[in-house]
Amino acid sequence: MATNALPREAWNSRLTFILAATGSAVGLGNIWKFPYIAGENGGGAFVLVYLVCILLAGIPVMIAEVFMGKRTRTSPVLAVEKLAAESGQSTRWRWMAIMGVIAGMVILSYYSIVAGWALAYFPKMISGAFVAIDDAGSSALFNEHLSNPWRLLGWHSLFIIMTMAVVITGVTRGLGKAVEYLMPILFVLLLILLGFSISQGEFSHAVKYLFAFDFGSLTMDSVLAALGHAFFTLSIGMGAIMAYGSYMPEDTPIAKTVLTVAALDTCVALIAGLAIFPIVFASPAIEPGEGAGLLFISLPIAFGSMPGGIFFGALFFALVSVAAWTSSISLIEPAVSWAVDKGKATRLKAGIFLGGICWLLGIGSALSFNVYSDPWIFGLFNWFEFSDFLTSYVMLPVGGILMAIFVGHMFGKSALLESMDIEGWLFDAWRFVLRWITPDLIKIIFFLGIINIFL
Ligand code: PFF
Repeated sequence: MATNALPREAWNSRLTFILAATGSAVGLGNIWKFPYIAGENGGGAFVLVYLVCILLAGIPVMIAEVFMGKRTRTSPVLAVEKLAAESGQSTRWRWMAIMGVIAGMVILSYYSIVAGWALAYFPKMISGAFVAIDDAGSSALFNEHLSNPWRLLGWHSLFIIMTMAVVITGVTRGLGKAVEYLMPILFVLLLILLGFSISQGEFSHAVKYLFAFDFGSLTMDSVLAALGHAFFTLSIGMGAIMAYGSYMPEDTPIAKTVLTVAALDTCVALIAGLAIFPIVFASPAIEPGEGAGLLFISLPIAFGSMPGGIFFGALFFALVSVAAWTSSISLIEPAVSWAVDKGKATRLKAGIFLGGICWLLGIGSALSFNVYSDPWIFGLFNWFEFSDFLTSYVMLPVGGILMAIFVGHMFGKSALLESMDIEGWLFDAWRFVLRWITPDLIKIIFFLGIINIFL
């Protein structure tokens, strides 16, 4: 139990921390969202901007976030209050972390709907529904799945219960072990899929699509999408990684660990893209800009036509569910640990209450695929799209700007150096980017992107 009176729990080794942070980072963002938004934004140009954002905004902020958690060893809101006091700043900085707590809960509410699709695809695969299916058939099956709100709500409920069960028990227990075994298996499965796509799909077309930089197809809102996704995929800008950092063993180096996690995360996204697009290009009924269903429509075609496809397909969707699960836990951890560290509630009560709110918010997202699919918010978004827009395009980038300013400008060099495993030019480079490049880069992309979307 993580209360103030007891010593805080901690991950028991550096490796467990890396695995838990990777578990948080690698999730639906890599396997479901990255390919589909890359497809919606025209491929290559988007991917390049996304990689630049990981480098110039994602990694510097991630280091800053882990630093805040590790140094204070408390939940994000209290961590920011503590650090603000330590550096003589206003405690109003806490609003940065409170916004993160809210962002995490909103993300979980719609993340859980998509995770529910993955859960549902596990029994569907086992049933053999996809054997020898073609692209039109696979699209039809997916659309049929979305058409029933009760079904989506059922899977959503199951996923929220699975998430809260772990959060209530305490994230450092069990989670590390699960991630240790399951993440490598997921990685191997993605490689198997990649092998299939290379041999059976339009692989060279996919490589060209993902990596040929076509400047003409780049709009300001796709640049904002790439920036927002860099934050989403690394689980940063909202305190999730800060919360995990608070459990980091003392002797674990921050920067090296962050680089490892960011590299693993990026590899998984690129491999997922390279596995999915060759199938998309080989299937006339599937468009790269298909939208949120891309993963669920394209991969079953591959499983349906490969030997042992029922087994591999079921295993794949089970592992995607696990990857979503290890991420969702970190989405709600800042909220739950705040309630607990403040001494306001036990993990059980906080978990039930906060998980309940996410469940309620998720109802709107479940209905966005059937009865309320029209864009009724600003004439642009349905509830699912709005939840994603608000968090990925607004809250995470704004959280990122604030964190970069907070750590970059409110702390002296010596205070940062004390806690950091890098020194010399590497340290200077990180601090320089965090102070002078990251905040302005995010600000420019953010304002131009938002203007482009609304005007
Ligand atoms: N990084 C996760 C993914 O890519 O699926 C999603 C996520 C987890 C976003 C935790 C934000 C977060 F705080």
